[in-house]
Amino acid sequence: MAAAAPLEVNKPADQGTELQRKLLATPNPAPSRFPSFDPRYPPPPGTPDVFQLSQDYPKTFKEETFPWSAIDFKAFPTEYMGAVLSYCLEGNVDVDFKVQDNKVRKWYHAPWLHDDGDQFGAGREYHHGLTRERKARPFELHRSQSAPGQNWAVGFYNDRGGTALGKVWRTASGYPDPYASTFPVNTVACKLLFTDASVEQIPYLVGSKTWTANIYPDTAYNKPRVDKPMRLLQLDVAVKDPRVADTTGWIYGTFVYDGGGAGKTVWDRMVPVGLSWGDDRQDRTDANRDGVFVNTSLTQARITSSLVEQTGWDYGNRAYVRHHGLGGRVNGPIDSPVSSCISCHGRAGTYAGTTIGPKSGQPMAMAYFAASKPSDFPLSQFDEFFKPIPGGAHIETQNNERFVTTDYSLQLTGGIRNFYQNLRSQPVMKALHARGVSAMAAKELQAVEPLPKVARDAD
Ligand code: HEC
Repeated sequence: MAAAAPLEVNKPADQGTELQRKLLATPNPAPSRFPSFDPRYPPPPGTPDVFQLSQDYPKTFKEETFPWSAIDFKAFPTEYMGAVLSYCLEGNVDVDFKVQDNKVRKWYHAPWLHDDGDQFGAGREYHHGLTRERKARPFELHRSQSAPGQNWAVGFYNDRGGTALGKVWRTASGYPDPYASTFPVNTVACKLLFTDASVEQIPYLVGSKTWTANIYPDTAYNKPRVDKPMRLLQLDVAVKDPRVADTTGWIYGTFVYDGGGAGKTVWDRMVPVGLSWGDDRQDRTDANRDGVFVNTSLTQARITSSLVEQTGWDYGNRAYVRHHGLGGRVNGPIDSPVSSCISCHGRAGTYAGTTIGPKSGQPMAMAYFAASKPSDFPLSQFDEFFKPIPGGAHIETQNNERFVTTDYSLQLTGGIRNFYQNLRSQPVMKALHARGVSAMAAKELQAVEPLPKVARDAD
């Protein structure tokens, strides 16, 4: 397409184009309450228990002693993960993850994941607020998985995380402020990931937690959404642990559900796959190796070796994993084998212009999605995607462009992307036109290419 002329939208103090002055004069483009789910797929009237975004973001939080703080995560990764998991579940299981109703402590959802501008159709569905995640390719999850599976997930932050969500989103101007995205220590984010793959395809899903979700009939994602049962497959956690403040600031960990495991409840049958607080940039051992293995040269990760698939073993309904991330770095069963939790989340960042224009909301590239397996990953890209990125909001440069990082939160980066994409979309531009923005200026903004998506993979 022909490149649109830059809009040169400036700060209020500057002289600007007509469009920018109108945009900035528009009192508050964000409504006072953020929508909960994708307006393109509304619930039929009378649907009970429609998802409500937990968005009464707190301004303060209380001091607490966190159960994981006393655990040496390098020596006892399983215990550390267990303590974080219990915290994520406490009070939430009782209210089936209506996290604002939690009697022990409230949790909060990130806004603006409801509507990605109709390019990808990944916006929150109305039963549980799930957003669409990377699909599971055939045989990625299990030897008997002959078909692809849809994966959808919902994440939530504790009150500390909630304060940062509020600072970014509840601004006087109504425009998100990515510079406010530094999360306080002991912020926790948890994410439940569900798949529509059947128990026949993935035997270790037997007895898992089931939710009905309003999703696509299949991974073509092009038919009207329908209600389908989904099963809990993976559970992700992220903890802003002060002990890793000098590296990334965050510990990322993931669990897989093991239907054949001994635990009494679904939650007791969640097994840690691994945790990581850095990407071992100096280590390129096995970076082009496909399949699953434990890379013993990594120093900033811990992997559960008993989950690594053994060929010829009959697993019955026990869980195992067939891949991790690049070079054996930590990644989850539904994740891309050429990335890692730390790599992708470290690149949570949004275009750093202080002005509003066509690049506003543009995310940093998070992974090298052109490669689908490690053996295709060009090592020339290794440093770009596996160099360590400090925590906290700050400027990073990628391809000669400046980005403000959102402290590892891809829900912030993704929400900001969707916010600006929406600002460009027809109904909003129509509204602006009604306020006097010339049709010419409105067209100019619409003509720019859609912003890239913020997702776990290219599809
Ligand atoms: C290739 C990219 C990618 C990889 C790899 C990845 N994630 Fe994410 N993650 C995302 C995106 C995009 C979102 C936001 C979208 C959403 O939640 O709907 C997200 C959201 C999350 C959230 C919610 C809070 C936040 O930071 O936005 C958590 C927690 C999380 N991921 C944990 C993990 C863990 C743990 C791993 C590794 C096991 C992992 N992620 C691997 C892309 C990735």
